[in-house]
Amino acid sequence: MKLTVNIPGKAYDITIEKGALSHIADYINLKGKCAVITDSNVDEFHADTVVKSLASKYDVYKFVFPAGEESKTIYTLNEIYGFLADNSFNRGDFIVALGGGVVGDTAGLAAATYMRGIKYVQIPTTLLAQVDSSVGGKVAVDIPQGKNMVGNFYQPNAVIIDPTVLKTLSPDFFADGMAEVIKYGCIEDKNLFDKLFSYSKEEFDANIENIIYTCVDIKRRYVEEDELDTGARMKLNFGHTIGHAIEKYYNYSTLSHGRAVAIGMNYVTLISEKLGLTPSGSAKKIVECLKKYDLPHDIATDVLKKSVEFIGADKKNIGKQLNVIMLEEIGKSFIHKTDTQIFGGLF
Ligand code: GLY
Repeated sequence: MKLTVNIPGKAYDITIEKGALSHIADYINLKGKCAVITDSNVDEFHADTVVKSLASKYDVYKFVFPAGEESKTIYTLNEIYGFLADNSFNRGDFIVALGGGVVGDTAGLAAATYMRGIKYVQIPTTLLAQVDSSVGGKVAVDIPQGKNMVGNFYQPNAVIIDPTVLKTLSPDFFADGMAEVIKYGCIEDKNLFDKLFSYSKEEFDANIENIIYTCVDIKRRYVEEDELDTGARMKLNFGHTIGHAIEKYYNYSTLSHGRAVAIGMNYVTLISEKLGLTPSGSAKKIVECLKKYDLPHDIATDVLKKSVEFIGADKKNIGKQLNVIMLEEIGKSFIHKTDTQIFGGLF
């Protein structure tokens, strides 16, 4: 299955194919030599397969950094720059980001900045990265003051998604990605939501390629319409305003991104139901779907209270106006321009 992200002057293909990893070189039409950047977890499972295929066509160099969000820093970035320079990489060469969101974001930012920008390919290996972070060119690292605070928009030259790699993903990581999959159903595709709601485990597994395709296609449309995230693309933040705040409360440990977003989707829908902006019963339906995929939907009231206090400080809240994503109904979303008072509706 193939999709093209049509951004003028920066168009690229997204390929979704079971088994793609073992012949990854077939999907890459770049010149020069290639630096595979990955983390210690992915290195163990997939790097050999990818390097072997790439070596049939390119000079391949591999850089591995320790797995985990702690590695998403300017220090790792600095090591990548050194590795590229020591191996005489220049603007005619390229990077392959092989891994989850941390690898994609960090290697992507290295590609965006090394020698003022070299080409790169995303090979996402988690569900979350496959349906979200590998597409759309958001690249960033964290600084102590906040997540993704240093970054850019820098589109990849190709995204290659192999759903079979999800077999090596822990159930925890899988559930994390499912929060974003459910989000796509909520914001844009009632049919996807209904399928997720009713699929048996076997039906879900049999349809994983289509599910990923549907999510990526929605993201593609938002990115084409609003590459720089000032309009339609903001709808991808459904559940994220409260979710980010909870993640921050827990110092980005304890609760993963997907779980925080799952809780956020429930609470923001409860608020919009109270305001009469979303049909009542929608949050209940979302919660049932979240539960089905082992995702949480609520959190202790004192934690929620303290978390929403952070929202005013979020970098996405331009000025004092808050752009909160709400559902007109499941499958249709809108940007609600409001302020932090809105969260009073939760207590
Ligand atoms: N993850 C949201 C976006 O790419 O805009």
